[in-house]
Amino acid sequence: TTPTLVLIPGDGIGQEVVPEAARVLQAVMPALHLVEAEAGWGAFQRHGVSVPPATLDAIRQAGAALFGAVQSPARKVAGYRSAILTMRQALDLYANVRPVHSLPLPNARPHVNLLIVRENTEGLYVGEETSDGETVTAQRRITRRASARIGRVAAHLARQRLTIVHKANILPVSDGLFRDTVRAVVAETRPDLAVDELLVDVAAYHLARTPERFDTLVAPNLYGDILSDLAAVWCGGLGLAPSINLGDGVAVAEPVHGSAPDIAGKGIANPIAAILSGALLCRYVWRNESAASAIEQAVATALQRGAATPDLGGTLSTREMTDAVLAALGA
Ligand code: NAI
Ligand code: MG
Repeated sequence: TTPTLVLIPGDGIGQEVVPEAARVLQAVMPALHLVEAEAGWGAFQRHGVSVPPATLDAIRQAGAALFGAVQSPARKVAGYRSAILTMRQALDLYANVRPVHSLPLPNARPHVNLLIVRENTEGLYVGEETSDGETVTAQRRITRRASARIGRVAAHLARQRLTIVHKANILPVSDGLFRDTVRAVVAETRPDLAVDELLVDVAAYHLARTPERFDTLVAPNLYGDILSDLAAVWCGGLGLAPSINLGDGVAVAEPVHGSAPDIAGKGIANPIAAILSGALLCRYVWRNESAASAIEQAVATALQRGAATPDLGGTLSTREMTDAVLAALGA
């Protein structure tokens, strides 16, 4: 069957970087079939819903989407729900995976090559807050089921070592369940893997100080959210950091950055984060490792040759930056 990708540019610079990433994907996978779909604030204004049902159907059918970015309204808008949260829930995208690789940039830190696997469906993100006016209680749900399935993803993706991040000294029951469940799954599925654990605060310290020491980290939702933004620093900036949301038989890749209203419409957004997100689709969805590494290698070569958008101190446009990657691909 022909691999199909749903392109969801979304808002702001998502409109500029997603088509460029699509050009790179088509260069390494000429048979790739592309379809387009809407989501985000613009979609909400047109359809009254941030993710139209047709978009969800298209993603389910294709099994793969590349999502640009969405803009969130600054004030609360009746009926609006975050597009990315809607997709995560509707498609049960339970694992958020963010690789962090050193790139050949003048001020980059070398030898970083780590992966953060974040549980994407529960924890504090169940969003259940209750208040009596004086005291507010937020639910933080940890289940054996969700901990087991994120543990399986982490065990599968880790190379030699998996670090379980938790705060079981303060939350022994909930984070204890997370930790023990992940440990049990790893022992069962990857007995070759070295497993260690870190308290989340200690993990933050080490990620800031010695990111080279990590292989793969697995964490409950909130810890993973915070640590993955911290670790994105080592990608060399927001314009370079890719991610992918994985479910069973469905995946949505997305650059870590947002809609960047300060530069949107100028044609100067860095497309690399979106391009590298495309490489993650090749690796994790289409199991095309040679296409994934060809893209990653071409990005490294282009950067090494000095190709740079303004966020990296250069003068290339979004399109010219992509052209530099395509040239390095030999396309
Ligand atoms: P942002 O990531 O959009 O921008 C932060 C800064 O980084 C800006 O100065 C921007 O110009 C720069 N930047 C980001 N991506 C870049 C790229 N590819 N090339 C060059 N420069 C880049 O975060 P911000 O400003 O906090 O949020 C803007 C909007 O995006 C908000 O509405 C926010 O809710 C939304 N957002 C959406 C996300 C998503 O779709 N997953 C993630 C983060 C924010
Ligand atoms: Mg975040």
